[in-house]
Amino acid sequence: MSETVSLDTIRAGSSERSFPCDILPECQSGIAFFCAAFYGRNDVIHLFNHGVQDLWLNDMDEEKLAVMGEVFGVEAQLLPGDSFTIAKNLREKGGSFDLVLCDPFTNLMKRTLVDEYENFAGIACKWFVTGASGAMFAELGIEPTAPALTDWLRRQGHDDALVDRLVMRNSDYQNGVYWVVLKRPETLQERSG
Ligand SMILES: C[S@@+](CC[C@H](N)C(=O)[O-])C[C@H]1O[C@@H](n2cnc3c(N)ncnc32)[C@H](O)[C@@H]1O
Repeated sequence: MSETVSLDTIRAGSSERSFPCDILPECQSGIAFFCAAFYGRNDVIHLFNHGVQDLWLNDMDEEKLAVMGEVFGVEAQLLPGDSFTIAKNLREKGGSFDLVLCDPFTNLMKRTLVDEYENFAGIACKWFVTGASGAMFAELGIEPTAPALTDWLRRQGHDDALVDRLVMRNSDYQNGVYWVVLKRPETLQERSG
């Protein structure tokens, strides 16, 4: 394992203020796609800190993913390779996680949230959290708000889409970079029940 990567160094670079940590206590299982560039500083560290027990990690960067496997103690739950292919395969096999988390670079945010929505959202029981940018909202022609994005996704045929909120991560890049927090069937049921 790289001597410079540890839970402490990852924690030191992370911030709970820019992540929807309040959803984590209700999540027993989670899968983090696109998770390795900063060894999970943006996201996986929060899942780990808040006790998401059954944690699966994906990235195409196999070396960094292997380091994360050791740091987070999940060597047996690494899924190296293309996120889009792996999500599609998991969905076809009936994969299911309380939380599905995606942190693609901005050039893949639209593909993840919009074009391949079914493959990521479709394996999330409680929450689907993914990235979006102000530039992406401009491309869709909508305001960066939860109601506008919910409405847009529903107009694309995703009838069960419900964006709970957007969380600002970085206001200085691409007219804002956000976490999009979407409710999935079990949290939708709680809401209506
Ligand atoms: C924004 S970074 C992720 C940062 C990470 N969440 C963290 O906190 O360290 C995006 C990641 O996507 C990965 N990536 C890019 N294209 C991918 C693809 N098609 N499949 C899997 N991973 C991909 C990159 O290797 C990079 O680690």
